[in-house]
Amino acid sequence: MKTVRTIASLRENLRSWRGFGETIALVPTMGNLHAGHLSLVDVARALADRVVVSIFVNPTQFGPGEDFAAYPRTLDKDRRQLTRANVDILFAPPVEEIYPDREHAGTVVSVPGLSGILCGQFRPGHFDGVASVVTRLFNIVQPDSAVFGQKDYQQLLVIRRLQADLHLPVKIVAAPTAREPDGLALSSRNQYLDAAQRAMAPGLHRTLAECAGALRQGRRDFDALEARGMAGLVAAGFRPDYFVIRTAADLGAPAAANRNLVVLAAGHLGRARLIDNVLVDLT
Ligand code: PAF
Repeated sequence: MKTVRTIASLRENLRSWRGFGETIALVPTMGNLHAGHLSLVDVARALADRVVVSIFVNPTQFGPGEDFAAYPRTLDKDRRQLTRANVDILFAPPVEEIYPDREHAGTVVSVPGLSGILCGQFRPGHFDGVASVVTRLFNIVQPDSAVFGQKDYQQLLVIRRLQADLHLPVKIVAAPTAREPDGLALSSRNQYLDAAQRAMAPGLHRTLAECAGALRQGRRDFDALEARGMAGLVAAGFRPDYFVIRTAADLGAPAAANRNLVVLAAGHLGRARLIDNVLVDLT
């Protein structure tokens, strides 16, 4: 596996692959890789001849007071994992390569509506940062496809929308959430949990799964189910930001007739803010 740090050198490699008619899949990450990321790489491998993984801790998606400085950076370990996973190129640019004018991050890509709700309400500007960096990565790599985890469901929908609105010639592929045996979704932020918090953390998925089960059994009293979910998170030891039932297509308010729903929640355990979701397909 080659590690490249500049756009020019990445493009040189991509040009030669394209010359041979090879297809390219991109897996954008912020590093500190775990089995969840490697499952995205597996999906990418099946989609294209070549796989590019980017590692870039994107400053513009962190708010003031969030964990940008503390975000775990483990490049050597990440590189070993990606080599074993048969990745072709690791693109690990410095911040100035992506944002040449460090003081002003430059052009902002903003997906209205979707970006301001749920996590966007608690992390203002977060999805503008995600959309801005993902658009840059799409333009830099020009992949045929790009793989994102379903765990970050709102992010996935923001990226799908920006791809559609900007007519970007890239196929967005969602990969299922990888979980610990007790249901906890894999996340780099799980390592902020101490032993007691780690024992409580599966309560997030358990509460979501209970609500999804009730929906599958025909319950449609959404407000009561959401209130029960919030109470369930508190009982499990979380300080919840939200627990909601939404339409899976666009995170709109659900109606009794909707057949594709998603239950989403975010909550804090100590210094970790965890998110998760469960899809409910009633078709
Ligand atoms: O999901 C992530 O790791 C990040 O939000 C992404 C998509 C790599 C953009 O920085």
